[in-house]
Amino acid sequence: MSEADAESTGREIWIEKYRPQTLDDIHGQEETIERVKSYVEGGELPHMLFTGPAGVGKTTTATAIAREIYGDDWRGNFLELNASDERGIDVVRDRIKNFARSAFGGEDYRIIFLDEADSLTSDAQSALRRTMEQFSDNTRFILSCNYSSKIIDPIQSRCAVFRYSPLSDDAVAAQIREIATAEGIEITDEGLDALVYAANGDMRRAINNLQAAATTGDVVDEEAVYTVTATARPEEVEEMVAAAVAGDFPKARATLDMLLTDVGMAGGDIVDQLHRSAWEFDLDDRAVVRLLERLGEADYRIAEGANEQVQLEALLAALSLDDEE
Ligand SMILES: Nc1ncnc2c1ncn2[C@@H]1O[C@H](COP(=O)(O)OP(=O)(O)OP(=O)(O)O)[C@@H](O)[C@H]1O
Ligand SMILES: [Mg+2]
Repeated sequence: MSEADAESTGREIWIEKYRPQTLDDIHGQEETIERVKSYVEGGELPHMLFTGPAGVGKTTTATAIAREIYGDDWRGNFLELNASDERGIDVVRDRIKNFARSAFGGEDYRIIFLDEADSLTSDAQSALRRTMEQFSDNTRFILSCNYSSKIIDPIQSRCAVFRYSPLSDDAVAAQIREIATAEGIEITDEGLDALVYAANGDMRRAINNLQAAATTGDVVDEEAVYTVTATARPEEVEEMVAAAVAGDFPKARATLDMLLTDVGMAGGDIVDQLHRSAWEFDLDDRAVVRLLERLGEADYRIAEGANEQVQLEALLAALSLDDEE
């Protein structure tokens, strides 16, 4: 269910219900948030570029800044736009112009939050840079992106850059516990571990999975979490690799099939999970190194659009053949 659908059906989704409202309520990202705070407290907000993976607090920080500066009026002084708006950069620029030119209620400047700035072509970014300059008297831009390398230098050099990391397991666990308590949900230790594992540093994913798991029964346990997440249990990916390394290709392939078909995982997610856990498997170092080398290849090919199942089977096949050398 999309965020808009949830709103229209009146069921509140927890990622919004529990979105931190102040900078102090944001979990993790301590150094980044400290720097943001020093700018907000100093009263002179620069243009900012927030960069980092999904679901770690970038949009949340931007709205918390607006609440801190404008109080209850924040919505009137904060324009949120998505750079990947399918109607094009011209529509985005028109909305920026209208917002910057409309009457001000006594504030020195307003904030324009531009999400997915890295989806803009470099030409569109050059146009954006001119727009930023044109309105820099009375607007501050906060740009958000997943990859700062995709943002042109002239924009980067005009912004204070803030890097967000995947959230630590402790930060995710702390927020999940708070929400479970607030919602009166019982969650087992194994259930919490499974949520944290499946989230892989993405708080949005952790909270959405908690909400989904909570609808499956009275208690959120490991079973409930793996039912809703399309994530393999760590033991399952380990067994698959162990079988391949031991030369038992049919067994490895059967596990792969189960993960793709029954669990419903995407091949790219299996690659990510293998990569995360490789050093925790009960394998000798040589086998881990072979696995990592093959993963690099599969990852690249899948990213280039190759068939996921073919690539993963080839990876397992290579691991099981290598053993016979
Ligand atoms: N550091 C955090 N502390 C507490 N909650 C968080 C944190 N980061 C994210 N969340 C939760 O996850 C939801 C999504 O976070 P947010 O919108 O800030 O992600 P984002 O970093 O902007 O991701 P994207 O790159 O996908 O836009 C928030 O509504 C909030 O509930
Ligand atoms: Mg965001």
